[in-house]
Amino acid sequence: MLKKAGHKITVHPKDEIIPRSKLLKGVKGCDAILSLLTDKINDEIFKAAGPQLQIVANFAVGFDNIDLDAAKRRGITITNTPSDKVNESVAEHTFALMLSLARRIPEADHFAKRGLYKGWSPTLLTGTDMRHKTIGLIGAGRIGSMAARRGVLGFNMKLLYSDLKPNKKIEKELGAKRVSQAALLKKADFISLHVPLLPSTKHLISDAEFKLMKPTAFLVNTARGPVIHEKALLRALKAKRIAGAALDVFECEPAIDCDLRDNMELKSHENVILTPHIASATEEARRDMSEIAAKNIIAVLKGKKPLTPAK
Ligand code: GLV
Repeated sequence: MLKKAGHKITVHPKDEIIPRSKLLKGVKGCDAILSLLTDKINDEIFKAAGPQLQIVANFAVGFDNIDLDAAKRRGITITNTPSDKVNESVAEHTFALMLSLARRIPEADHFAKRGLYKGWSPTLLTGTDMRHKTIGLIGAGRIGSMAARRGVLGFNMKLLYSDLKPNKKIEKELGAKRVSQAALLKKADFISLHVPLLPSTKHLISDAEFKLMKPTAFLVNTARGPVIHEKALLRALKAKRIAGAALDVFECEPAIDCDLRDNMELKSHENVILTPHIASATEEARRDMSEIAAKNIIAVLKGKKPLTPAK
């Protein structure tokens, strides 16, 4: 699309996190940057690019890797990729993680593949039903609502949410009830995080929050790693304060554990499921993200409004 629109493109040749020095050099003279969430886009990058830079199109729904204030000061447009297709893919992965926790799928898979299955037993790898259980959404925006729809319509689950704003749509369509975060943590069987990473949401789930959860509760994070205080999660798991957690994102990403001295402790818990930030990793969603990013660049370089400005 970009080539067809007549643009000259430079692509980082390796599938890796671009080393900072290469990124700073590579953006020099560009009118547009198509960035990944692993690229820290700040004033240093804007300065290195030069005053002709008009747009940074982030290939992600989240944009906590970008300094929006610095972009605003320089009049640079920032866009993200918040399409329904992408959000539905993230919601599907959220649900896949919930089901995997409830039915202990990774543990069972490991068990069967290691040849440990010697005969059916009434107590072998028993999990928990999702039906009639309560989902608690922390953040009931688009992705959270899509995950909730699967729970309520597909599994007859009850729905609680906490958010700065009410979401009348899910209240009406899904019977969702808006409650305080503390009330949600006390009641929910499956707690799913769907807030952006902001100074106010960093370590939103820490020791005090784990203390409120039921010992049978499961926690799912497909939002951003630092929303959960990793050390507090480890303490909660060790004390059996919760039943398990599924994480697609990590506080010190791409490291799975912030502190290597704790011996990869997250990895050692059988009731912890880890996926490497793949919630939107479907062919369909990634194609959509590419197209949205390209369309944003084409529009802005033509002097038009971006389709999906970051907000
Ligand atoms: C992925 O985490 C995204 O924000 O798109």
